[in-house]
Order: sequence, then C-alpha cells, then structure tokens
Amino acid sequence: MKRYERFADEISELIRKGVLAPGERVPSVREASRHYGVSPSTVFKAYYQLEDRGLITARPRSGYFVREQAPRLLTEPEATPGQQETADIAVSELAFSVLSSLQNRQTVPFGSAFPSPALFPLARLARSMAKGLREITPAGIIADMATGDGDLRRQIALRYRMGGTPLPVEELVITNGAMEALNLGLQCVTSPGDLVAIESPAFYACLQVLERLQLKAVEIPVHPREGIDVEILAERLARLPIRACWLMSHLQNPLGASLSDARKQQLYTLLKAHDVPLIEDDAYAELYFGSRPARPVKHYDDVGLVIHCGSFSKSLAPGYRIGWAAGGRYAEAISRLKLMTTISPSVPAQVAIADYLHQGGFDRHLRKLRHALESQQRQMLAAATRYFPRETRVTRPTGGYFLWFEFPRRVDALDLFHRALDAGISIAPGPIFSATQAYRHCARLSYGDPWTPRSEEAMAILGKLLATY
Ligand SMILES: Cc1ncc(COP(=O)(O)O)c(C=O)c1O
Repeated sequence: MKRYERFADEISELIRKGVLAPGERVPSVREASRHYGVSPSTVFKAYYQLEDRGLITARPRSGYFVREQAPRLLTEPEATPGQQETADIAVSELAFSVLSSLQNRQTVPFGSAFPSPALFPLARLARSMAKGLREITPAGIIADMATGDGDLRRQIALRYRMGGTPLPVEELVITNGAMEALNLGLQCVTSPGDLVAIESPAFYACLQVLERLQLKAVEIPVHPREGIDVEILAERLARLPIRACWLMSHLQNPLGASLSDARKQQLYTLLKAHDVPLIEDDAYAELYFGSRPARPVKHYDDVGLVIHCGSFSKSLAPGYRIGWAAGGRYAEAISRLKLMTTISPSVPAQVAIADYLHQGGFDRHLRKLRHALESQQRQMLAAATRYFPRETRVTRPTGGYFLWFEFPRRVDALDLFHRALDAGISIAPGPIFSATQAYRHCARLSYGDPWTPRSEEAMAILGKLLATY
C-alpha cells in the first residue's frame, strides 16, 4: 500500500468514526505533513483521493473540509421487528421469481447480488488462466482434484495468516463458490427436521438451503449496526435443541451489520458451551471500508467448531465459482461430501486465481474496489435523501455494496418491486430475506455498479413510486 493511500485511509477512518465531523476543517497540508510525518505531496495526493471518494471537499482559499452531508441523510433503522420462534421455510418460489427478473440486463440493477464485473481485473485473470494452463502438467490437471489446487490453498492459508487467524492448509476445502461451502457445511452437521439458528433478516440463499435440507429456522434478530442479538440467541440455545448456527459476523447480507470483536468472542463462547457448530458466511470479508480487515468468529475457534466459508466471487473473480471452507473438525467430512456431489471446482479457474495471487496486485485491486464501493455508497445515500420519503430509514454499512431501506409501513415492497421492474429498475424486496416473508415494507438496494445519471434517474423514479403509497 502506498504511503498516501495509507494516510488517506487513516483520515477516512477519522471521518467515519465522527472524530472529524461533517463541515469540520481537515488539517491543512502543512499541519498534516508535520503532525503525521509525511511529505506535503503525500498529503496532497491523499486529499485528492479523499475528494474523489466524496469524503472531503475543497473550499477556495480556506482548505479542505469534511463533506456536509451526514446531518441531512435519512436516519438509520434501529432494531429488526420480532420473529417467530421456529419456522418451516418456503421462500424459494418467491426468491426465484425475484432473482429471475434480475437477469434482464436492461434494468438498473439495484436488486443485483453482484457488484459490477467492470470493477474486477478480468483481463489480468484471463492472462493468469492462460499462463497457469500452459504451465500445468497433464498429470497435474487431475492430481489435486480431491483436495483442491495446492498452490491456491497455500495462498488462501497465507491470507488467513496475514489477517491474524493462522490455520493449517489441510483445513481448507476448495469449493464451487462460498455457496457450496455453506451448503456442505450445514449438511455435514444437521439431519432433516433439525433446528438451525439463523439471522433475521437473512441472506435468501441461507433460507433456500434450509428449505432444501428440510431444516427448521430459529430466526434471531439482527441489529442493523451491531449484528445478531447474542442475548436472544443465548436464550434460544438454552431452551431449544438447536443443532447448528449459520450467520455472517461481518457485513451481514442484507443489513451490512458487523459484530464487534467482543461480541464475536461472546458468541463463540456461547456456541462452544452448547457444542453447536457455526457456519460462518464471510463472503464479503475483503470489502471493508476502513484500513483493517475484521477478524472472523473463526479467529476465536480453538476446538474446530467453526466452518468459515469464503469466496473470490465478490472480491476478485465473479463467475469463476471459486470459494472455500475452512472446515475445522468437519473439514474431512465436507471434503467427502464434495467428492460425492461435485468432485471439484473447475481446475482452470483455480489455477488462474492461484497464479493471479502469486503475481501480486490483489491488495491493490482490493483498495481500488473498496474505494469505488465507498464512493458509490455515498452517492446512493445522497440520492435516497433527495428522492425518498423523509420517514424512510436506511443503514450505513462500513463495507460491502448493499443498503437496507425501511420504508414507511404503508409501502408494500413486493408491489413496489413489480412496479419498479415495469419502470426498468430491479430491487430486492424485504420478504425474500425472511423465513416468514416479513419485512414487507423493506428492500435491499445494491450500489455495486458505478454511479451514473441513469442510477440517479432510477432513484428519482423509485422516489415517485414510493410517494404513491
Ligand atoms: C452473503 C453471501 N454469501 C454467500 C454468497 C455466495 O457466494 P459465491 O458466489 O462464492 O457462491 C453470496 C452471493 O451472493 C452472498 O451474498
């Protein structure tokens, strides 16, 4: 990371935490240079970058100021409403009909689950795939199918180590995206009819996996900023025969909430006391806006109870379908289930990613990606403030590419979804994130695509639709 980028991230963290308040003057170039021991040109470059990211603005002859936008933004939601205690799930129909409508490329993709592919180094990956395939021996193409590409596993293990959670390479099972890791992980630790603690609202694919495996959901509320309610989880664990827990401790989908380190530790201690395995979905691990990665619950795991699932789909290589499970004590069982179902993810895709990671440049790409997403979030928040009803509440995630909107209760998000689609705009309506089709007045909107006049116009149209309820 270049010096000016590090310095820009430090200032951006101060702004995010409110240490530098909206409207406040940021240190002058001379002050910053003296105080932080960096050259004036480093400060200039950092300030230009922060200006591009929309965090500060220059005033003629007065210097740089934190952008005056926070006080005018819509307010944040508080807590998610009550959930049913246990529920059979039947969301697939609804989720599939919503998802299939997103496939029309002409729509403005606010409902999409993927950031724009334009934000990824696809040309470099293609070169890595060609190079990797030229170098692989004929025997090598099938040699590592059972375990996954050795080089790729080592590179992933290295990233765990750099993030402060060292684990043995043998624990890593390479899978077809995080989705397969999550599926196999849950399948390994449950039998049909079992109860599984999940988040509410939850990533709709989690609900579909439970439905497929004939499991029952125990929905635990998620606070939009602080993450899953550990006290309620403790109460449910004490009373119900819960066999597994599936959650996202970091940048939860759809709320963007992250647990503090203390809460993660508390959560782990609780699950360990009940010997309940955790399937930890960390698909957005790399998409944080601050300067440091978050540690997963896996970090605290000393008995192999956590199946930590990661992916390159959202950080590097969409469509390559490469993810993994750090399976703890279940690694062998997951690996066997994988051999019985898909055998192995595509070897060329694994080779390409391994070569890319080997060449270096992943972290540089990630910094660019995070900055783009941060700036796109700011633009969507500002547009929502301009066009949506004043009573609308919206989250402020510290990473990822989703905002969760709570509209006034009179809004029917499924009806809004259909009307928006007629107007060429997709959204992800709240009920697809709930086992009981709750959140009828909520929706998830993605800012994963570069902001354009068309995005702005789409927000204005949504605003007009919202005003009709
Ligand atoms: C929260 C979450 N987990 C897991 C996945 C699946 O990731 P992959 O594409 O690697 O299978 C997604 C993708 O949409 C996701 O949003």
